[in-house]
Amino acid sequence: MNVEILEDTFELIRPNGEQFAKSFYKNLFRKYPEVKPLFSDIVIEEQEKKLLLSLVLVVENLRNINYLKVMLESLGERHLKYNVVSEHYPFVGEILLETFAQYLNKKWTEEVKQAWTEAYAAIVDIMLNGAKQKYRPLSFYHTELNSNVMERLRIEALTRKYIRNGIHKEIIVQKLMQDSYFREIGQKVGNETTFKIISNVVNKVSNSIERSKD
Ligand code: HEM
Repeated sequence: MNVEILEDTFELIRPNGEQFAKSFYKNLFRKYPEVKPLFSDIVIEEQEKKLLLSLVLVVENLRNINYLKVMLESLGERHLKYNVVSEHYPFVGEILLETFAQYLNKKWTEEVKQAWTEAYAAIVDIMLNGAKQKYRPLSFYHTELNSNVMERLRIEALTRKYIRNGIHKEIIVQKLMQDSYFREIGQKVGNETTFKIISNVVNKVSNSIERSKD
């Protein structure tokens, strides 16, 4: 995880934190009105504060991963009680990134985007682990995989990790195809489709890393 980038960019958001949280929910409900009923019993201003607080807590503890793990596991477990299921996480991830982009403007570079994409994927992994709810790839039938943010996030995060470890992109594709998560997807949508999508994302990530080295 690129802790420095996460810390630095969050510092830029922090002075406008409350406004940021407001925009986040506005964007979320506009794009995904179907999640609104989950929040029906609550005062949205309170929720905005909680979102901000949880972001602050996460960012402040990026160097304290054990604590972060415990905190996020229990947060994930509580989300089960709020009727949040794994399929909702990509929505929130997408809107979070979008809202970051909106607030960071020109400072929302490819590198920053990658850092937050990776961080969100890691956070969700820990939360879902806490919820002990097996992540079910629901929207995998048809070609929806292509637009499924969470799967892309997962492929991107793993690819970056492998590239950092000096693994060649063809081997990365093979490794991902063997990953139990993507094997399950392969069984649902067909190995060929899964292979194409994984190769596509791996290529994009590796090209963008190559470009950033120039
Ligand atoms: C990184 C991901 C997320 C973080 C850090 C996060 C953070 C939080 C926090 C701090 C609370 C306050 C209550 C508590 O601490 O238990 C909360 C409550 C809640 N969150 Fe999330 N959340 C995340 C993802 C989601 C997703 C994907 C949804 C679904 C769209 C969601 C919906 C809710 C709901 C419905 C509540 C309960 C409100 C209530 O009844 O009090 N959250 N979240």
